[in-house]
Amino acid sequence: MSKKVSEKRYKVTFLPENKSIYIFKGETIFDASMNAGIFLNSECGGVGTCGRCKVLLKSGQVEKVQSELLSSEDKERGYVLACQTYPKSDLVIEVPVIEIEEAVIQEGLLAEDILKLEITEKVLAGIKRLDIRDVKILPRVVKKLITVEAPLIGRSSSDKYRLEIALKQQLGLEDCFIPLEILKKISDVLRKGNWMITVTVDEISKDLIDIEPGNTTEESYGLAIDVGTTTVVVYLVNLNNGKILTSASEYNKQIRAGEDVISRIVYSLKGAGLEVLQGLIVETINELIVEVCKRTSVNPEKIHSIVCAGNTIMTHFLHGVSPKYLREEPYVPVANIFSPVSSKEIFLEHTPKAVVRSAPSVASYVGGDISAGLLISKVAEQEKLTLFLDMGTNGELVIGNSQWMVSTSCSAGPAFEGGGVKDGMRAIKGAIEAVKINPKTLKSSIKVIGGLKPKGICGSAMIDLLGQLYITGIINRKGKFNTDLNSPYVVIDKANPYYIIAKAEETATKKDIVISEVDLDNLIRAKGAVYAGITTLLEEVGLTKDNLEQIFIAGGFGHFINVRNAIIIGMLPDLPEEIFTFLGNTSVAGAHLALINRDKWKEMEKISRNITYIELFNNNKFYERYVASLFLPYTHIEEFPSVKKMLIERGLFIQE
Ligand code: FES
Repeated sequence: MSKKVSEKRYKVTFLPENKSIYIFKGETIFDASMNAGIFLNSECGGVGTCGRCKVLLKSGQVEKVQSELLSSEDKERGYVLACQTYPKSDLVIEVPVIEIEEAVIQEGLLAEDILKLEITEKVLAGIKRLDIRDVKILPRVVKKLITVEAPLIGRSSSDKYRLEIALKQQLGLEDCFIPLEILKKISDVLRKGNWMITVTVDEISKDLIDIEPGNTTEESYGLAIDVGTTTVVVYLVNLNNGKILTSASEYNKQIRAGEDVISRIVYSLKGAGLEVLQGLIVETINELIVEVCKRTSVNPEKIHSIVCAGNTIMTHFLHGVSPKYLREEPYVPVANIFSPVSSKEIFLEHTPKAVVRSAPSVASYVGGDISAGLLISKVAEQEKLTLFLDMGTNGELVIGNSQWMVSTSCSAGPAFEGGGVKDGMRAIKGAIEAVKINPKTLKSSIKVIGGLKPKGICGSAMIDLLGQLYITGIINRKGKFNTDLNSPYVVIDKANPYYIIAKAEETATKKDIVISEVDLDNLIRAKGAVYAGITTLLEEVGLTKDNLEQIFIAGGFGHFINVRNAIIIGMLPDLPEEIFTFLGNTSVAGAHLALINRDKWKEMEKISRNITYIELFNNNKFYERYVASLFLPYTHIEEFPSVKKMLIERGLFIQE
């Protein structure tokens, strides 16, 4: 519900920061918080569906939309949903502290790690992929040592002129543009270096990026960054040898404004929402830059080149460009290819001399992360028909080989990343990451990240759970609990039956960790969207799953998937497990490759241009398949013969 905004204004004060702002009558507390720069938790972008924006009303009169998302206890204590509450007088609001859980390192596989796996892991054997050790180190931004002629009486042309002559004679750079910032320091740098200086040059645009006194060619660094919706990963790279010096990752701080890209677009349309979102992603990256530089004692001012890879919406937000038309038919981005920008233009304050390039997007919801992923995985060079699947809140898919490629995207929602599931959490320390259920006792065995007491369940364990609950007969094909079971682990609560994964005495929270029928329903919708996306895309190009010869799964989430359970639940097609390969975070690995070799950057641009995009938003076949996917594993069990066989063997198959 949105109200007409009138001229009358109210003062809203936010505690504990004690920040006040005036807002118009008809605006919500959520709008006020954004204008005041106060971050409120939000998954839905402020449309009233997530219940995360609760704040405590300390004083004042409000008009609020009734919501079931607050418990009666919260309501009694005075909590309101900020996005559903309109001031009727001046207000004092207390904002609950947002707790950000400690992130486990989620960089995924480094390019070198992929190689190691190729050697050691059977499932990866035989697949030809880029060997980064053989990549020619040919960065776009290079440092070179030159000598500039010293002036003499009678030969006193300007310092700029003599620098231009040196650039032309020693590097072949004609008419090199010298920006004002460099002009201001030319004279001092030349004299400090005793006429020997290091120039940093863009080998493609031929722009002069920096000058330093003396020989600093050894100190040449770059960053490869995966700008993920949930997690941001930074590699610090030595541009002289292409090696990764260190890496770091952190949650994208934008999560506070919405867990999926659509919620964030909604958020960006309110007040200063776009600036807030750009500020949050920039803050995340800035902190990671500080971390990697501190760890390696690299001066961030020596970083001259940054390659970012993110989905289309994240790339827009990073540049402070509104992606609002991506939410409306016909879903048009402002740009698929963003021109290079200086770090300063997008507020990456610690690397003032760096040029930032973002990997080109393919289309509206298939972004530069996919272009980078296709580059590193060499899908465009494969003879075999390949499905490339980047799993995440926004699932992105590409089918093709060296001859052709088509792509699409499907919103799986945040369920597998911990959203919409009561005891769900991200893959951080304390998360249950794998589950097995004993078919006789129905008790589960669990594996917890960090070997700690469990706090909740992450995506990989949810896939396991859904599969295991199904093949042990605890739930049926619709995800409904078997009410005839007599087990201490299955609680047939009338309103919402649930399965106990870990008893209170075994958990860090001292509460049972459970998965309920409502949770299962959300998971089934998420897996249904992925499968419907895969099969609809195949159908659009006149193929079936049986034509697929190899399947690459990318993304931090994909790295942990148990393929067998993912097939049992009907998320991945029923094909031999040998054709599935896990690649980890291909977005950052592709950005790394494009950073150290300018020809690979061009190749990535070519890949992005050669992919046909198929929109699923208004595709009836997708919706039909999605509805058919809301069963385990699928409405037509014949599409999953190995699962049918397993069910028959276990006496669980029911002919319908
Ligand atoms: S319910 Fe208010 S932000 Fe989601």
